[in-house]
Amino acid sequence: MSRVFITGASSGIGAELARVYARRGDQLGLVARREDALEALRSQLPGAHTIYALDVRDRQALHAAARDFLSAGPVDVVVACAGISAGTLTEEIEDFEVFESIIATNLNAMVATFEPFVAPMKRCRSGTLVGVGSVAGIRGLPGSGAYSASKAAVRNYCESLRIELRASGVRVVTLAPGFIRTPMTEHNPYKMPFLMPVQAFAERAVQAIDKAVPYKIIPWQMAWVAALLRIVPDAWYDTLAARGQRKPRVRR
Ligand SMILES: NC(=O)c1ccc[n+]([C@@H]2O[C@H](COP(=O)([O-])OP(=O)(O)OC[C@H]3O[C@@H](n4cnc5c(N)ncnc54)[C@H](OP(=O)(O)O)[C@@H]3O)[C@@H](O)[C@H]2O)c1
Repeated sequence: MSRVFITGASSGIGAELARVYARRGDQLGLVARREDALEALRSQLPGAHTIYALDVRDRQALHAAARDFLSAGPVDVVVACAGISAGTLTEEIEDFEVFESIIATNLNAMVATFEPFVAPMKRCRSGTLVGVGSVAGIRGLPGSGAYSASKAAVRNYCESLRIELRASGVRVVTLAPGFIRTPMTEHNPYKMPFLMPVQAFAERAVQAIDKAVPYKIIPWQMAWVAALLRIVPDAWYDTLAARGQRKPRVRR
């Protein structure tokens, strides 16, 4: 039995990861803002689990939840999955708040999620910290500057952490989902290549976490697209990306 702490557990990828771990008999700490959604998930899961209804941007609340979960025993896996996505444009002054909120949730809260677990994991010389990035972090996406920047930062942050902790026995895994069918992608007004059911994603993600794969793009077809995107010259990428449809901005 492992003990697993998951943020963003009330929906989509986080909720599905919780289902996979609970089926294996693991004990979970489940974090998100919507208490009713966490309660509904917990009632469907086998085993006894703890829910923490909080905003991951509240670092003190997050640390208190982590301390509470740690007080019941060592933690094997921490998944920082909470995330938000919205279109943003630099020229739209009111989008700055959205920009800040995306960075605070997708990047800063990931750091705050991992913070309390590093020292206890180092003492045990075991444990895995999992950051959920995105293929959107590989190149800049027009119309999604905040989201794309947050996920590029997640990739580099997790890489830094992985190397910092290399000799300590603590592993760091970065998951980079392509398009996964969840509430986040439900209303995307564009074609989503290789769109994957969330159940299949979660199974593969847990396999990658078990093997401590440093950086895993799921599905595999997206890994090929990503490899290509990394080597395409800027001029070609700009022409190609400018043609694509964009994530809508949050209307006020
Ligand atoms: N779906 C995809 O195609 C895709 C692709 C690439 C990357 N990702 C990444 O995968 C992760 C999960 O996304 P998803 O597709 O599962 O989306 P989702 O269904 O919208 O779930 C997002 C989760 O994050 C939680 N969350 C958001 N803001 C929060 C906050 N301030 N405090 C606490 N919890 C918060 C939400 O819970 P509450 O609303 O209850 O707080 C929810 O549980 C995100 O990091 C996303 O960027 C998804």
